[in-house]
Amino acid sequence: MVRRPKWLRKDELFKTFEEVWDAQTLMAAYEVMRRLKLKRFAGVVSAGKEARVYRAIGRDGREYAVKIYLTMTAEFRKSIYKYLLGDPRFQSVDTSNTKKLFFAWARKEFRNLKRMYEAGVPVPKPYLVYQNIVVMEFLGENGVRSPLLHELADHLDEQEAERLFREAVDAYKRILCCAGLVHADYSEFNLMLHRGRLHVIDVAQAVQLDHPNSPDFLAHDMVNLVRFFGKRLGVETPGAEELVEEVTSCSLECPVEKWVPSEADLEHVASKARDMIRLRYAD
Ligand SMILES: Nc1ncnc2c1ncn2[C@@H]1O[C@H](COP(=O)(O)OP(=O)(O)OP(=O)(O)O)[C@@H](O)[C@H]1O
Ligand SMILES: [Mg+2]
Repeated sequence: MVRRPKWLRKDELFKTFEEVWDAQTLMAAYEVMRRLKLKRFAGVVSAGKEARVYRAIGRDGREYAVKIYLTMTAEFRKSIYKYLLGDPRFQSVDTSNTKKLFFAWARKEFRNLKRMYEAGVPVPKPYLVYQNIVVMEFLGENGVRSPLLHELADHLDEQEAERLFREAVDAYKRILCCAGLVHADYSEFNLMLHRGRLHVIDVAQAVQLDHPNSPDFLAHDMVNLVRFFGKRLGVETPGAEELVEEVTSCSLECPVEKWVPSEADLEHVASKARDMIRLRYAD
């Protein structure tokens, strides 16, 4: 049984924990605070449809982003079928148990984050997963989170936009070539500019290359890049098909060998993704 640590005042905990928390989440949060030696929760960073992201502060002053899955929306249920069940790492999840689905999803996010982090992708450093809670590095300064690319769209000059496009392509290349994953929700809403560098967030839905829908997700991610950087920001980007070619032609030094995909797998996914773009996204 998880107990509230003595140093944690009850009223302080409840102040930020709000009414959306059930008893089990509250206990899970105690446990997370105990394990990571967190001093307090310091406000909601984002209240999304399924998850809330909080800023928390460690006893040593370090800041953390704490993502808690709370609401099972219809959309979320669909995601589970689309992104979780096709993933060989999560085939045995009992889909009739909502709590277990949340836990599996949080675990999936953490594992993807860790794999990307170890593969050298610019993502927040992962710290811990516990039940429906994922804890990672807080990307921000002085308690304020860093901006998303979508929030910067009207404030970027041509050069900055071009540089960020390159960084977005390079980060994707690393996700694919060094982590063996397809992000599957790669857009200006999940890319942050932190300390002058592009960072990738929100990786729960990322799948391995051997997922049956990975070509579809890859195609969609590349179309998103062209739409945002090309059409919205006016960067001269290659077409989505050429981008598929570029990100799948892996000539990177990877820090970890074990996730590097074979050339045959890459070529298979690339060719299907290109077909998909021609069929589905032709102008
Ligand atoms: N590590 C982090 N550091 C700082 N802020 C973060 C971090 N992770 C997420 N956020 C903030 O929380 C928001 C939601 O996070 P994320 O994109 O991971 O969740 P989501 O499930 O997509 O939520 P939504 O339903 O709002 O799209 C982000 O847009 C960002 O503003
Ligand atoms: Mg998001």
